Amino acid sequence: MEAYLERWRDAGPPLNLISITELNRNSAQVLLELAAEMKRGTKQGREFYRFDRPIAAAMIFEKPSLRTRVTFEIGLYQMGGHAVYLTQNDIQMGRREAVMDVARNLGRWAEFVVARVYLHSILEELAIHTGAPIINALSDVEHPCQALADLLTIRERKGTSALKLAWVGDGNNVCHSFALLGAMLGHEVVIATPKGFAPDAKFVGDQVALTNDPAEAARDADVVYTDVWVSMGFETEREIRMRAFKDFQVNSRLLSLAKPDAIVLHCLPAHRDEEITSEAMDGPQSAIWDQAENRLHAQKALMALIPIPPENAPPRPS
Ligand code: CP
Ligand code: NVA
Repeated sequence: MEAYLERWRDAGPPLNLISITELNRNSAQVLLELAAEMKRGTKQGREFYRFDRPIAAAMIFEKPSLRTRVTFEIGLYQMGGHAVYLTQNDIQMGRREAVMDVARNLGRWAEFVVARVYLHSILEELAIHTGAPIINALSDVEHPCQALADLLTIRERKGTSALKLAWVGDGNNVCHSFALLGAMLGHEVVIATPKGFAPDAKFVGDQVALTNDPAEAARDADVVYTDVWVSMGFETEREIRMRAFKDFQVNSRLLSLAKPDAIVLHCLPAHRDEEITSEAMDGPQSAIWDQAENRLHAQKALMALIPIPPENAPPRPS
């Protein structure tokens, strides 16, 4: 573990993981290598890394979750830590109590704060006032933990050579983090969305190619990735979105344009036979279940590496 920590420190590690851009190519590589090592250990029934003191994470969820909640809870358990799950119903952040006051409380008890929020700016506010690392468990603009699992899955299936990664569908939170990490690790990223649903240019910049043609993205791709057409918080746009996205389904016709050994990814939850056919989800090219499993290993690596107060972080705000 010490060798990973040394490389992580040399890479200029982040204090939080609010945006995937807090990582750089070196730190992302260390994290993915450690995740693979930790996965091997867990599969063999021995943990590669366990906390050397009691570690607790406060986990704020303003939106529902299966994968993120379960993988953080089980990951912490496997490493000898503990998770406290807090719904918006429980703490009513910003209503019952100001965000900064929630942050100050949690920072006095917990070594990490994992938060799934509607507004990305809430994560930044939590970071200012908590003093413990803030881990973005999905916001309106990013899903960095998902991107780590995605790139871990791609490494497992395809190695480390440069690939063509195609995103087909909504230019959403998952798309932003995936595209940024994919480009950071040297891949060609092509994103196909309907007009009006492109990713935010201030996140993806000119590191990725944008198109409105799903075939252009899928052609000769090594990876074809999609997500729901209606993300949490966008339910009122459902009808408009169904019409706008109808030609962006990942199905056997689209996959026939990709490389024969291309893999299919979906962050889940999926709406079967909407943005992706059941045939594609359950077919031989699907790496979706490995991808879901890898949430566990990627997040364990993140929690093993990210500096936990009091040793490594600046003093907690009063
Ligand atoms: N992919 C993902 O974050 O799933 P959950 O919403 O179930 O956590
Ligand atoms: N884009 C989806 C991802 C869910 C994990 C959403 O935000 O609802």
